[in-house]
Amino acid sequence: MRYAISYVSTAKRSLSETEIRQILDDSEINNDKQNITGLLLYSEGNFFQIIEGNQQQIIQLYETIKDDSRHYNIIKLFGKEIQKEAFDGFKSDFISADARYSSDRLQNYKRYLEVLDKPTKNAVANILKAFIV
Ligand SMILES: Cc1cc2nc3c(=O)[nH]c(=O)nc-3n(C[C@H](O)[C@H](O)[C@H](O)COP(=O)(O)O)c2cc1C
Repeated sequence: MRYAISYVSTAKRSLSETEIRQILDDSEINNDKQNITGLLLYSEGNFFQIIEGNQQQIIQLYETIKDDSRHYNIIKLFGKEIQKEAFDGFKSDFISADARYSSDRLQNYKRYLEVLDKPTKNAVANILKAFIV
């Protein structure tokens, strides 16, 4: 059984775009190595993340991420067992001000939420909508 954790957080103000892109890139590299799938988005000062994988590994990674001083205000959206992972790899994306209104992009990310039960899916879809548009 796979396990998934999702949260939103606020990036530390002093982070440069380069430093944020570094977090996104490092996460993709580390997660791919460990068979952790999911999504990490950055938009206008906030992060949104879903990590999926072996339960113990995911809980441990979430603890590490929570302790990372490059962000704060970490709000957990859910932590639950899932039947099947929504993502076939780990993807991160920096959503710049110009791309914020691209609803295609939002639809693309929402597609991955199908794996969640209905109330969770609806809650996360609403947060994603507020996050991206
Ligand atoms: C918003 C945010 C998301 C992160 N997501 C991941 C992630 O998905 N995978 C990962 O390995 N590290 C992620 N990190 C980095 C970890 O917090 C940590 O720096 C990294 O795992 C290296 O940890 P270590 O020094 O204990 O090996 C993230 C950091 C931030 C600020």
